[in-house]
Parts: sequence; C-alpha cells; structure tokens
Amino acid sequence: SKRPIIVQGPMPIEAEKFADKLENVKEEKSGIYEFYIGTINNYPVIVSKTSKGMENTAAATAVAIERYNPIAIINQGTSGGHDPKLHVFDIVLGKRSVNIGSLKTGNRGENEGIAPTEWIPMDLMASEGSAGEDPDAENIRYYKGDKDLLEAANAVKDKYTKGKVVEGTIGSADVWNNEVDRIKWFHNKYGTSVEEMETASAAQISKAYDIPFLGIRILSNNKTNGGEYNPDTATANQKYVYEVVKKYISTL
Ligand code: 5AD
Repeated sequence: SKRPIIVQGPMPIEAEKFADKLENVKEEKSGIYEFYIGTINNYPVIVSKTSKGMENTAAATAVAIERYNPIAIINQGTSGGHDPKLHVFDIVLGKRSVNIGSLKTGNRGENEGIAPTEWIPMDLMASEGSAGEDPDAENIRYYKGDKDLLEAANAVKDKYTKGKVVEGTIGSADVWNNEVDRIKWFHNKYGTSVEEMETASAAQISKAYDIPFLGIRILSNNKTNGGEYNPDTATANQKYVYEVVKKYISTL
C-alpha cells in the first residue's frame, strides 16, 4: 500500500479546515494527538493535529512516523513576521528551519546581570558530548526543507492570491517574541523570515528518521511592520497547502 503524506497543524483552526478536505476520513488518537486518516485524489493523506509547541510537535511527529510510515511530512500553520518586507497573509516556504530557543548564555557571575544579546546559538546535534563545553556546539543548526516538496510548493504559488509566497527561514521555539529589537537580533543573526513554535521540532524528528519534510507558514502577525494578528490566515494557509499536496501527489 502507498505511504501516506502527513500534514501537521498545531491548533484546531490550523488543522480542521484541511481535515474537512479529506475523503473517506477515519479518526485515530494516540494520547492527545489526533490523526484524521483519509485520501486526496485516492492517495492516502493524514492530517495530524499536534497541539502547540516544540514538545507536542516532536511527540506527534515520532508517533506519526512509527504508526503510519509517511512518505513525507508537511508542518503548516501561522507565524509572526521577522522580516519587515513580509506582510500578514504572505506565506513562507521553509527552505530552512532552526530552533531559536537553543542557546548558551555568556559567563557571568553573581550580580553581573543578564545579557541576552550575547547569548550564543547552541547545536544539540553537534556531538554526543556536553553542549556546554563543546566548541562545535556553538553553531546554528539549520534543517533543510525537502527539494521535491519545495518544488511542488513553488509550482502552485500562483494559485495563492491573498499575498506572496516566498522561500525563507522559519525559526521555532516555545517563545512568543514581542520585542522588536530581539526579533531583529534573530533576523540578523539567523536570517529568520518568521517565528512560530513547531516547524524546527518536526524537521528535527523527520531528519532523525530520514523522512522528507517541509514547513509552510503564513504570517498571522508581524510586529516589525505593525501587522495585526488575523486568525483567518490559518484557513488561507490550509487552502494553499491543499494545492501543494495535490501537486506533490501528482509527482509520486
Ligand atoms: N510567535 C510565536 N508563535 C506564533 N504563532 C503565530 N504567531 C506567532 C509568533 N509571533 C503560532 C505558534 C503557536 C501559536 C501560539 O501560534 O506556532 O502554535
């Protein structure tokens, strides 16, 4: 039987619209992780409602890989802009993703304060040794988006009319940054286009199992240019990702 494509969404508003598009749906649950198992154009597709954040996403991804042996995983949902040229309703295809919560602080004694702009990116996958001591761990770890998934996504760009679709860098952590100077720090140091709380986690686990992966994130807000939060972006992204999935299926 054919290996399914998995489409992940964290919140109900980010998963259920896509699940409605499936045919022949049956639901399965593992812990709090819900899977809507169905088909699109007779090809198996599973929508995974992961819940928010890095931990839920890692667990949902590992469970999905072990249970369903997917051919590819797409993580999609909303995000906050780090690039002032991107606006609410624009979509970022994750050419790369990165965990922006993985950091090592400077060395400071008691009463020497806290200096976040001196913190150093930390790569927990650099070695099996202590990340606190290993100089190789003082590095930004990027996860690459899969070439074929990116190609399918680029091929249907024109079907999306509510904003632009660009390739970029998705930064993830269990943090919501509202400090524009901190957002700028990430944008300059990591090249982030947007931030959210899931993509780099799903990318890391997908890589651990060698499963092709892509993050697709719509801007629901952008603090750098006054873009106010709009939850309708979640539905718009699912419509676009539906086109991406159909295109990808046609290449299999
Ligand atoms: N910062 C962090 N997460 C964001 N999300 C949307 N915008 C942002 C932002 N500016 C997404 C996360 C998470 C939920 C809070 O919304 O991915 O699932």
